[in-house]
Amino acid sequence: MKIKRLALAFLLVAAASCAGGPKEQQLSEIQTLKSPDGNLTLSFGLTKDGTPTYSLDFGDKPVVLPSSLGYELRGKRGTRYFSNWEEKDYEGEVDFHSGFSLKSTTTDSKDETWEPVWGEESNIRNHYNELAVKLCKPGAEEDKEYTMVVRFRLYDDGLGFRYEFPEQGQNLTYFVIKEELTQFRVAGDHTACWIPGDYDTQEYSYAVTRLSEIKSSMSQIVDYNASQQVFSPTGVQTALQMKSDDGLYINIHEAAVVDYPAMSLNYEPKTRTFVSWLTPDAEGWKGRMQAPCTSPWRTVMVTDDAREILASRLILNLNEPCAIPDAKEWVHPVKYMGVWWEMITGKSSWSYTDDFSSIQLGKTDYSTAKPHGRHGATTVNVKRYIDFASAHGFDALLVEGWNEGWEDWFGCQKFYVFDFVTPYPDFDLPGLNAYAQSKGIKLVMHHESSSSAINYERHMKAAYELMNKYGYDTVKSGYVGDILPEGEHHYSQFMINHYLYAITEAAKHRIMVNAHEAVRPSGLCRTWPNMIGNESARGTEFRSGILPNHVTILPFTRLQGGPMDYTPGIFEMNMCKLNPSDSSVISSTIGKQLALYVTMYSPLQMAADLPEHYEAHMDAFQFIKDVAVDWQRSEYLLAEPGDYLVIARQAKPGAKCKANLALDGHEWFVGGVTDENARDLSFDLSFLEPGRVYTATIYEDAPDADGIAESPSFNPGYSIRTLQVSSTDRLEMHLARSGGFAISLK
Ligand code: NOJ
Ligand code: CA
Repeated sequence: MKIKRLALAFLLVAAASCAGGPKEQQLSEIQTLKSPDGNLTLSFGLTKDGTPTYSLDFGDKPVVLPSSLGYELRGKRGTRYFSNWEEKDYEGEVDFHSGFSLKSTTTDSKDETWEPVWGEESNIRNHYNELAVKLCKPGAEEDKEYTMVVRFRLYDDGLGFRYEFPEQGQNLTYFVIKEELTQFRVAGDHTACWIPGDYDTQEYSYAVTRLSEIKSSMSQIVDYNASQQVFSPTGVQTALQMKSDDGLYINIHEAAVVDYPAMSLNYEPKTRTFVSWLTPDAEGWKGRMQAPCTSPWRTVMVTDDAREILASRLILNLNEPCAIPDAKEWVHPVKYMGVWWEMITGKSSWSYTDDFSSIQLGKTDYSTAKPHGRHGATTVNVKRYIDFASAHGFDALLVEGWNEGWEDWFGCQKFYVFDFVTPYPDFDLPGLNAYAQSKGIKLVMHHESSSSAINYERHMKAAYELMNKYGYDTVKSGYVGDILPEGEHHYSQFMINHYLYAITEAAKHRIMVNAHEAVRPSGLCRTWPNMIGNESARGTEFRSGILPNHVTILPFTRLQGGPMDYTPGIFEMNMCKLNPSDSSVISSTIGKQLALYVTMYSPLQMAADLPEHYEAHMDAFQFIKDVAVDWQRSEYLLAEPGDYLVIARQAKPGAKCKANLALDGHEWFVGGVTDENARDLSFDLSFLEPGRVYTATIYEDAPDADGIAESPSFNPGYSIRTLQVSSTDRLEMHLARSGGFAISLK
């Protein structure tokens, strides 16, 4: 059946003009590649007009129907002359998607295990079969050819492929991408969890719809963000999670996005085809390349068991090994609190004074300004948090609004917005760091760039040196608002390069980075493990803007590329208790907030709420204190994207954060969350060591709990019980609407 379909789809044109190398095989037929377990089949061929085409099957089921590959490149630059600027700017374009012939193929395979510095498990298996096809076509100059390689790696849980542009002299050294034309033609009107394709933000709720409903649902899912550009009524972002009617879970994303714009997908309903849609630069071009170079990997995960998407390490495996030789010495997991939620809720502010309507960096004199009295990052307040974080075993404390410039930081499009080194008069930088260190706490630095990227790069060295001087080893950075220089986007190549520059420069200073509003990750944390977090999705700060199903989707989508600084642990759901003018209420139970420490994997975990709210519930807070932040093993017990998740994880002994150091590695933690539906979920404990008895402390929704904020019966309440369990036991858990549970097993 399959062979017939493929034979019809691919009319392969044998290579005629290209000579093969010594180990290269001349081709005349469709190339196929099997996954190591034989279940996935990748097929590659060229159509009659020389268009590279691939398809992917899961057993007998088509996952990607024959879909074309390639590019359109920018044409030659014409004369730049004022009267014919428009017409002559760039002449034509270079077709890099047809007219190819197949020169040769090479195959390879790998089966290795590597140890991440931190992660969901201590060892990761990288097991794939590889096919690389070398394509060529006549070049612009006579007697010269263009060469492009497409490299496919097929794993048991999915496919990765990328474009490679080998060195080929002046024929194709410097080139500009007009459009990448990678297609993903799907086999049905799948149900998808998607967010709008946007050049600047991922901070959206997920729509869960049929693919045919993307267009009609778009306007309901697009809401305001400080910087946003939705590019098409059928555009969606990756990682895109889909489910077919015959039970396949299909996930499209990308890996190792380096020196290249981030990819979204545009859906063409008539042909049921997603087409790559790169983020443009300020002039509308989609990538400036210099051969030899490669594209990022395009990935298609597929399985008939949703849990395997969560267990997949495909994205990490497609990234390069760790580039920081001594990373294990200084990169470490972090459990932290923050002088932060009080600003987010408007209880206090980042700014210091109302005296100035505009700030001139380095010129405005704050020393005589009158404090407005709402500043959060005061020495006194920060000390209060340090004392609490220290008393309860945290590693670190984030302080935002510590530095001059917050009076007009937002929406002003200032090039010189912050210098990242000058504290406000009421923030004792040396004194607070010394105080924190005396209490076993590190302060977490905060660099809000306000999206003035060049300003941040200009000040970065001094900013990192200041951190080194006072003993900060982690920075939370941020990119709120439209990017300056104007026209660039959060996900264009310019910013992709900026984010990586911030990471690599930080590595030179032994600094770990948690960037907010930066591009959604693509597994680069394997190469740069000092990238310990990112926001890059809608997090808790959206408060009532978090839908009950949100955290049942993020592990399938956003978390595929790397950990998220989701900022869980809110105990007071009514924001008006913090700020009378904030009427938002968070749709969640406390049980669900606790579960997130397990279900939302991150080596950087925050207890986001205020000390006084934890003091009111010390019994539930105990779970946040106990839970590990780094893991030797993870078991995905139950999962359905958009509905529910139950995950169990075994603490990693020796991981350098206080929570893990207090554990011996026999401890397990379990988290379970549900969407807007109450549910009964049951699972066995066969992951536990046989014959060993564990004390399970169960933090669950109270019998009358209800996590739907709009409901008259809203009640985030919890109850706690303990019991003795072993690997032969089964647990039955009841979850309230938008509820959840957390269990520690010791
Ligand atoms: C947006 C970030 O997501 C948030 O965490 C931060 O507090 C503000 N920007 C200010 O930098
Ligand atoms: Ca944000």
